[in-house]
Amino acid sequence: MRVGILGSGLMGGKLGAIFARAGHEVVFSYARSKKKLERLARDAKGKARPGTPHEAAQKADAVLLAVHWARKDDVLNQAGDLSGKVIVSCSLPMNADNTELVVAHTSSGAEELAKMTPKARVVSAFNTVPSEVLFGVYEAKRKASRPGLVYCGDDNSGKAVAAELIRDVGFDPVDAGPLRIARYTEPFALLVAQLAYEGKGGPELAYRFDRFGK
Ligand SMILES: NC(=O)c1ccc[n+]([C@@H]2O[C@H](COP(=O)([O-])OP(=O)(O)OC[C@H]3O[C@@H](n4cnc5c(N)ncnc54)[C@H](OP(=O)(O)O)[C@@H]3O)[C@@H](O)[C@H]2O)c1
Repeated sequence: MRVGILGSGLMGGKLGAIFARAGHEVVFSYARSKKKLERLARDAKGKARPGTPHEAAQKADAVLLAVHWARKDDVLNQAGDLSGKVIVSCSLPMNADNTELVVAHTSSGAEELAKMTPKARVVSAFNTVPSEVLFGVYEAKRKASRPGLVYCGDDNSGKAVAAELIRDVGFDPVDAGPLRIARYTEPFALLVAQLAYEGKGGPELAYRFDRFGK
């Protein structure tokens, strides 16, 4: 599929590279330097090119929103009309110094995003793992036991697109339900970040849920 990357930083740069390696057509957009977007596209080892957010979004089957919460209005304005598009968002609604969620309990970043783009199909995914683990998960993709990745959304066709991308990275997609479940997954992402960045084992951390009994 054609995937537009809106925000080519730690998450967007790595996920875009993996999507390209997995066979998707990727457009990297939204970084402070055009040279960086060109380098990401060159290094992606697949069908990838640099572009503007508008170019990344308009021909895409899915866009990955991977910007700081404070940049979402700017990048969405630049992307243009996203009616009908699948927006896979890994963005967390963090304050400026990334210490607190600025939306929680009664709403979530994903739901606020959906209010801003009412005709798009918003899926919250990829925000519960640190960027540092992504290439490792991709490289371990053929192993029998994959890490899980929770995702949620209100549109089933959009969720199917997100699940395909999640599988392509090497995760086992864990459907957590409707978009309002992002009220739980977003704080959970902070727990994973705490373990990744403050825990003993380092940031290459993923998780998996196991069921026992019948
Ligand atoms: N990093 C993680 O492990 C992680 C994990 C889970 C969720 N998240 C969430 O995912 C989202 C993205 O995080 P990230 O760590 O990938 O962020 P990041 O590395 O800072 O990437 C953000 C991208 O936005 C670009 N950008 C920022 N200001 C800009 C401007 N004024 N004009 C044009 N481009 C601009 C940056 O450009 P430059 O490339 O030039 O800096 C960068 O490419 C955030 O909402 C975060 O909370 C991150």
